Amino acid sequence: MIYETSSPDETIAAAEKLAELLRPGDTVLYTGEMGAGKTHFTKGIAKHFGYTEPVTSPTFAIVNEYDCDPPVFHFDLFRIADFDELYATGFFDYLDRGGIICVEWSENIPGLADELESVWTVDIQKTGENGRKIIINN
Ligand SMILES: Nc1ncnc2c1ncn2[C@@H]1O[C@H](COP(=O)(O)OP(=O)(O)OP(=O)(O)O)[C@@H](O)[C@H]1O
Ligand SMILES: [Mg+2]
Repeated sequence: MIYETSSPDETIAAAEKLAELLRPGDTVLYTGEMGAGKTHFTKGIAKHFGYTEPVTSPTFAIVNEYDCDPPVFHFDLFRIADFDELYATGFFDYLDRGGIICVEWSENIPGLADELESVWTVDIQKTGENGRKIIINN
């Protein structure tokens, strides 16, 4: 699936479309530079499941939990350097909690997708100041 968006709201809308396909236990692994729109995309996923509070990158907290149905667990691995550090965050305990797991900066952990059951990859590329190309695979 490929979406071309030209505003943050369009990226949120694209994420809402993907969210229709997501099931509890699915993991969404983002790649894309700073400011690509990973957090906005996560906001759209959480919105689809009824979460309307602010959504921000959990860069320091590592994980934000959004209390919707199913819950959305929003990770940011910007400060995580390897598998050992990822284990220490409790990441793998979240896999059995029946939520949707969204992971910013998944490129920091090469091979992460191979450790997971049901993975969607979402690569967001800047095509202009407000242009984004969003490439989704599963
Ligand atoms: N089409 C678009 N889709 C999403 N965001 C856009 C778009 N056009 C412009 N923007 C802007 O790009 C920025 C995206 O920010 P966002 O926090 O979602 O990125 P991010 O990939 O999570 O960055 P970080 O790696 O720093 O967490 C916002 O400032 C937003 O207003
Ligand atoms: Mg972010």
